[in-house]
Amino acid sequence: MTTPAGHSRVSFDRDLVVAPLNRRVFGAFVEHLGRCVYDGLYEPGHPTADGDGFRRDVTDLVTELGVSTVRYPGGNFVSGYRWEDGVGPRESRPRRRDLAWHSLETNQIGIDEFARWSRLVDAEVMLAVNLGTRGVLEALDLLEYVNGAAGTTLADQRIANGGVEPYGIRMWCLGNEMDGPWQIGHMTALDYGKLAGRTASAMKTADPGLELVACGSSGSQMPTFGEWERVVLEQTYENVDYISAHAYYQILDGDLPTFLASALDMQYFIDTVTSNADQVKAALGSSKTMNISFDEWNIWYLKEHQEQEAALAAVDTDGTREWTVAPRLLEDVYTVADAVVLGSLLITLIRNADRVTSASLAQLVNVIAPIMTEPGGPAWRQTTFYPFALTSRLASGVVLAPRAETSSYATGRFDEVPLLDSVATYDEIARRFTVFAVNRSLDTTDEVEINLAGLAIGEVVEAWLIADDDPFAVNTMSEPDRVVPVAAITRVQDGALRVTLPPVSWAVVVVALGD
Ligand code: AHR
Repeated sequence: MTTPAGHSRVSFDRDLVVAPLNRRVFGAFVEHLGRCVYDGLYEPGHPTADGDGFRRDVTDLVTELGVSTVRYPGGNFVSGYRWEDGVGPRESRPRRRDLAWHSLETNQIGIDEFARWSRLVDAEVMLAVNLGTRGVLEALDLLEYVNGAAGTTLADQRIANGGVEPYGIRMWCLGNEMDGPWQIGHMTALDYGKLAGRTASAMKTADPGLELVACGSSGSQMPTFGEWERVVLEQTYENVDYISAHAYYQILDGDLPTFLASALDMQYFIDTVTSNADQVKAALGSSKTMNISFDEWNIWYLKEHQEQEAALAAVDTDGTREWTVAPRLLEDVYTVADAVVLGSLLITLIRNADRVTSASLAQLVNVIAPIMTEPGGPAWRQTTFYPFALTSRLASGVVLAPRAETSSYATGRFDEVPLLDSVATYDEIARRFTVFAVNRSLDTTDEVEINLAGLAIGEVVEAWLIADDDPFAVNTMSEPDRVVPVAAITRVQDGALRVTLPPVSWAVVVVALGD
């Protein structure tokens, strides 16, 4: 249903529950890429570094961000990675070329250090195995090294390296983006499905309690999208628990209205994968429902990165391009509009809580990241930090689907885009209701009326807004607080909650529930 522009109505019913909110949807991603690890979360010479060389200012920001899981160590990096390089005495760890990112890898951080770092930020590790250039045996060895009880060579090696207790890592990615021609060891869906199926079967034999993620598509624009999921799941269905999804969005050709509608592509992605997975379920006569791990999602100015890479490759005709440690790569600076889109992508993930039960914002520090650092200098929050941190802190309980009446607009890519995007959570124990909303209009303020069927609205507890007169405003090292959340304008009137959403804005409102 539509309303005049500027007057949306949305209602939530506590009996229309999508699913309980799974906190794994607030995951993030740390890859050995650029300055994410080295000169990012790890910088031994930094004034705030702890005994392991981890920056405390960064761990504080990661904690504030509210990250539940961290996917590690890649990404494209994992397809050329030998996990053994990153364990044991640091001085004898090898230096190797990382072909995925044309970088030198020093291996000063490996799984033992990363497991310690994850405890500092109270996050669960989600570990990826290399199925690009390695296979079943290396995956089993890594599993035994990290989770094995004392008494085997590999588990005892971990203990000797300081990991006295097993790390208890439950979630494992079976390779990374194996559908992508850029992936080292790229395969057809059938070849990958067979390898992932054999690896999953062996890993579940070692530990039936693991939760395994098969690689899905690297984007809805991939030529194999849909068919890839079908073939891979046919080979893996009973031994895996998730199919992955990856999606990155950016403004193309200056088309801000289409960019603000990016969540429509994410919804299409989720709908398509869900229906493909359910078809395989039916064909196999399985009683198991496959969930989605949306384990890479974000805004990424990928086209610009690809153009830079192509220019570098064009002049490197004799293969002498320099290999450096922790080059500045993918250090996108995010605008208010990017933060609003990130907020709407997170709304979409939460609204699909019945099937998307794990997700990872890609990535965490310096590399397409909410947190930026300068070597020897400060760490600061990008605009995109705020919708993620506020959603992670304020969403709780069960997810309620919206019934919205709002205007829509057409873009170059989408025929009908609702101006208002929203979702809510309802926490019966804490007696609170939280609504997350985005106004996609470029020029109209939306006075949103929110009704809660079956629930009495009490007072507004917290209300935050991300908006700016300049939708392209950014935070930088010299002006780290140019964009911060401000108090949203709200009121409770005639039993409804009213929220003012300026153009290109994201907001969250928490209300206490009356009797
Ligand atoms: O997050 C950056 C890269 O994006 C990852 O390494 C890869 O998996 C994806 O293509």
